[in-house]
Amino acid sequence: MTETSHDRLLIVDFGSQVTQLIARRLRELNVYCEIHPYQNVTDGFLRDFAPRAVILSGGPDSVTREGSPRPPALVFDLGVPVLGICYGQQVMMQMLGGKVEAGQGTAEFGRAWVTPGAERIDLLSGWFMDGSGREQVWMSHGDHVSEIAPGFQVYGTSPGAPFAIAADPGRRFYAVQFHPEVHHTPNGRTLYQNFVREAGFTGDWTMGAYREEAIRRIRDQVGDARVICGLSGGVDSSVAAVLIHEAIGEQLTCVFVDHGLLRQGEAEEVVTMFRDHYNMALIHASEQDLFLDELDGVSDPETKRKIIGRLFIDVFQKHAGEVGGAEFLAQGTLYPDVIESVSFSGGPSVTIKSHHNVGGLPEKMGLKLVEPLRELFKDEVRSLGRELGLPEAFIGRHPFPGPGLAIRCPGEITRDKLDILRRADAVYIDQIRKHGLYDEIWQPFEAILPVRTVGVMDDGRTYEFACALRAVTTVDGMTADYYPFSHEFLGETATRIINEVKGINRVTYDITSKPPGTIEWE
Ligand code: XMP
Repeated sequence: MTETSHDRLLIVDFGSQVTQLIARRLRELNVYCEIHPYQNVTDGFLRDFAPRAVILSGGPDSVTREGSPRPPALVFDLGVPVLGICYGQQVMMQMLGGKVEAGQGTAEFGRAWVTPGAERIDLLSGWFMDGSGREQVWMSHGDHVSEIAPGFQVYGTSPGAPFAIAADPGRRFYAVQFHPEVHHTPNGRTLYQNFVREAGFTGDWTMGAYREEAIRRIRDQVGDARVICGLSGGVDSSVAAVLIHEAIGEQLTCVFVDHGLLRQGEAEEVVTMFRDHYNMALIHASEQDLFLDELDGVSDPETKRKIIGRLFIDVFQKHAGEVGGAEFLAQGTLYPDVIESVSFSGGPSVTIKSHHNVGGLPEKMGLKLVEPLRELFKDEVRSLGRELGLPEAFIGRHPFPGPGLAIRCPGEITRDKLDILRRADAVYIDQIRKHGLYDEIWQPFEAILPVRTVGVMDDGRTYEFACALRAVTTVDGMTADYYPFSHEFLGETATRIINEVKGINRVTYDITSKPPGTIEWE
């Protein structure tokens, strides 16, 4: 539990895949909330936490199974509004005297439509207003409530959930079968808004407040120990570094590894921003030769990645060792990097995707982790970055892969090819900025192809490299489409690259989607 002067809402987690989205919706409404696994929510915890409202999340278990999870009965005696969602609805109904039945033909997964009951309640103000008389919701349940608890009434029904929305407005208990937190319940936000208004939240939990709280948490965790942070210059590690620096100042040292595979001007930008502007202790590990010498003659993509990953860890470890006595490693891990689940036999279990850059380091070096962004989504990290005054140039940055230009240089990597690629890429990005397209594209980059082609310039024959431009749009990097540049843009960009970058005489545009392609060329 975190100390805070704000009114707080407790989310009791029963292990739903989308519990974090509830927290996210509440943060959008400027409400302070914490998620706690049901195992930790005891009577004593509830009294100490003193929530202004409670939400019981969904979960994978069946309340009809003996020994399935329950919140303490005290939840219903606190005198505060309670909202049960999916499993949370069912557990609420059963504990308050209703009945739940297992599946048998009434399971609903995905889109469903809820129609209103005869009476209206404030929780549903703004619902059923668009003339269709129904609301789209997202369901994911096998079991369903077959008899509502005494005191409750039905305020909405769907074909598979006769008690899709049930409530006892007198006690301020609300129970919905669907998930109002997901995108596919388009009016879900209104429902949360009505719920928190009913509970009396004033909406004072802003990004500014989040920042103060995060700073306090970092100080509590770290005490007077030293922290090292792998800084890549990407949004996540930049925001994490600035936040931690604000919390503990000189106790933080950042390590920026320059592997010689960065884009033009990148190392200077990062060093200037963090060392000069923020006055951070920053180790600029200039290890270009180490990486490029080992990569010499290597053309297999996976071998390139392995070499870079291994050297990265060596270099990081070497420089981190120089800091002396660091007890913590800071990482810009975001919520989507964290897969959180509740293990029903034991306590909550947390699995973290191993990070490409520093994978295995914490154990190897005996470091504890500081991950101040681990409950945030990417756009929230950007808002926090703005709150911290980080320039837009850093906040809006496109993602850049750990192995850098190595995987944009198919075939053998040479210093000459990297140099050509860097200059051509800079022209391309300049074009994208000039045409105001930077924020519309997820990732634009160039690959230098391992072929030379014949051209003619100044009445003479040229024999230079060909390059491929790539630009994709995507929501999460898992699937992607190519960006539909105009022919004028492509023509102008090709002309500029060939005129301004010696070493390239042919430009192509990659129009492969993902799948079947990948975003990177290797
Ligand atoms: P692909 O090429 O797999 O890329 O479609 C999806 C996203 O992941 C990035 N990417 C990487 N990032 N190490 C990284 O840190 C890697 O080895 C790597 N490979 C791809 C890629 O830039 C895109 O954003």
